[in-house]
Amino acid sequence: MADFLPSVAVDLSGALSLDALFPFTRTEVRLEIGFGDGERLVEQSSQRPDVAFLGCEPFLNGVAKAVAAVSDRALNNVRIHSGDARDLLAALPAGSLDRIELLYPDPWPKRRHHKRRIVSDDFLAAAARVLKSGCELRFATDIDDYCAWTLAHLSRSKDFVWPASRPADWLTPWEGWSPTRYEMKARREGRPSAYLTFVRK
Ligand SMILES: C[S@@+](CC[C@H](N)C(=O)[O-])C[C@H]1O[C@@H](n2cnc3c(N)ncnc32)[C@H](O)[C@@H]1O
Repeated sequence: MADFLPSVAVDLSGALSLDALFPFTRTEVRLEIGFGDGERLVEQSSQRPDVAFLGCEPFLNGVAKAVAAVSDRALNNVRIHSGDARDLLAALPAGSLDRIELLYPDPWPKRRHHKRRIVSDDFLAAAARVLKSGCELRFATDIDDYCAWTLAHLSRSKDFVWPASRPADWLTPWEGWSPTRYEMKARREGRPSAYLTFVRK
C-alpha cells in the first residue's frame, strides 16, 4: 500500500483531470463503485487495456488486495479511490464517464437503516452529472427490497430511463458477465439476482 497505492490513487485535493489520471488514448472511462476485493476490476481492466477503469472502495483490506493485483499484473489503466464513492463522484468532471457499475451495494436490510443505502436521490443526481448522455448506470442486487427501492428512486429521477427492452430481461445478467464474489455467495445461499440497467437521458 505504501509503495504502490500512491501511483494508482486518485488525488481528490484539487481539480480532477481524467487526461492527467489516464495519460493514454482511451475508448471509455468506467467506474466500479464498491469493488470489494477488486476481482472484477482487475479482470475487466486486464481484458480491456483500451478502457480506463476507476475503482472505488472504502474497505482497506479490499483496496490492498486490488492494489496488489494491479501491481502484479502491471495494469496501467486502473486508478483507485480508497474511500467513499460520493466524494469521487463530486470531484469528477461533468459528463466524463461512459459507465457506472454499482454491484451488490450494502443492503442495509433493517428499515431504520435504509437511509444508509448508497442509492438515494442525491446519489442519482451525482451519478447523472458525471455520466455521458446515453451511457449506463448498472445495478445488481440479490435483495428484493433493495431492487424495489432502486426502481422507486430511478422512476422519479428526471435524469435516467429504464429502457423498455430491459424490464423483460432484468433477471438476465449483462453480456459477458462473470458473477462477482458477493453474487456467488448469494447464489450458494439460494438468492437470485436482479440486474438493472438505467440509461442517462
Ligand atoms: C456487499 S459488498 C459487494 C462487493 C462487490 N461489489 C461484489 O459484488 O463482490 C459492498 C461493497 O461496497 C462497499 N461500499 C460501502 N459503502 C461504499 C461507499 N460509500 N462507496 C464505495 N463503496 C462502498 C463496501 O465496502 C463493500 O465492499
